[in-house]
Amino acid sequence: MAAPVLRALVTGASAGLGAAFASTLAGRGVDLVLVARREDRLRALADDLPVDVEVLPADLTDRDQLATVETRLAADTDPVDLLVNDAGFGAYGPVAGSDPDRATAMIDVNVGALTRLTHAVLPQLVERQVGGVINVGSTAGFQPGPNGAVYGATKAYVRWFTEALHVELADEDVHALLLAPGVTTTEFQSVAEVPDGAVPGPLMMAPDTVVDAALRAFSRGDAVCVPGVANRAAAIGSQVVPSAVTRRISGLVHRRFAGR
Ligand SMILES: NC(=O)c1ccc[n+]([C@@H]2O[C@H](COP(=O)([O-])OP(=O)(O)OC[C@H]3O[C@@H](n4cnc5c(N)ncnc54)[C@H](OP(=O)(O)O)[C@@H]3O)[C@@H](O)[C@H]2O)c1
Repeated sequence: MAAPVLRALVTGASAGLGAAFASTLAGRGVDLVLVARREDRLRALADDLPVDVEVLPADLTDRDQLATVETRLAADTDPVDLLVNDAGFGAYGPVAGSDPDRATAMIDVNVGALTRLTHAVLPQLVERQVGGVINVGSTAGFQPGPNGAVYGATKAYVRWFTEALHVELADEDVHALLLAPGVTTTEFQSVAEVPDGAVPGPLMMAPDTVVDAALRAFSRGDAVCVPGVANRAAAIGSQVVPSAVTRRISGLVHRRFAGR
């Protein structure tokens, strides 16, 4: 029987899905290490949770601050059993004319930090045969994403990286799960400057529902979790319909997200 998860490190815990992961895990008695830039938010959340919580503020685009999180993940004292790589953000609009610094910051957080943190935690998880990694991708990672090209490409990386890792860990009591949500009610849309009304309300999922689905999938040892029937249908469709078609559809959807 797999050893229970006693402590989880959640990146992006100051808002949205990361905060929901923190609250849900705490409700199940899991101690926490919370990571994000907004320390005040992390401390306010920690004060509300009925478990031991360490607050570890870090900007994951900053190599030195990222290194402090890597060091925590590799520590033998109070070891972390579950890494939730949730921190991330998106931006919409054509590549031409968009800010290259914002694009590379997106790659640094969504891809670079997620990869380094996974590398940091895995040796001790494999050594101890416990827990694993939940990497938060997106349904945006299932097809090319014109007018959101960099974001979609970062989430395609998360998808392939995590599915590959899942297979590498097949003989271990350590799991890797790709969580690929569709649109979810968080601060993501305001950070990405998506205009109000561009995302149809009925498609939006609640963060708690997404997190419950992810934790169920993780405990089953699944490779991929796409919460919601409509999102699953879109993800399956993207794997059977040629990308010459799906890229046109996603390009139209992202035009709305870009307010064009
Ligand atoms: N909401 C959706 O529709 C949706 C759909 C599919 C996938 N996702 C994915 O879900 C994940 C969580 O997003 P969300 O929807 O919960 O959005 P959110 O409410 O905006 O939360 C994003 C989190 O990421 C953290 N973060 C961003 N940049 C960071 C940095 N440089 N260093 C450290 N932390 C950083 C933010 O914390 P600070 O600002 O305090 O640093 C915040 O806690 C992301 O990977 C996103 O791509 C979201």
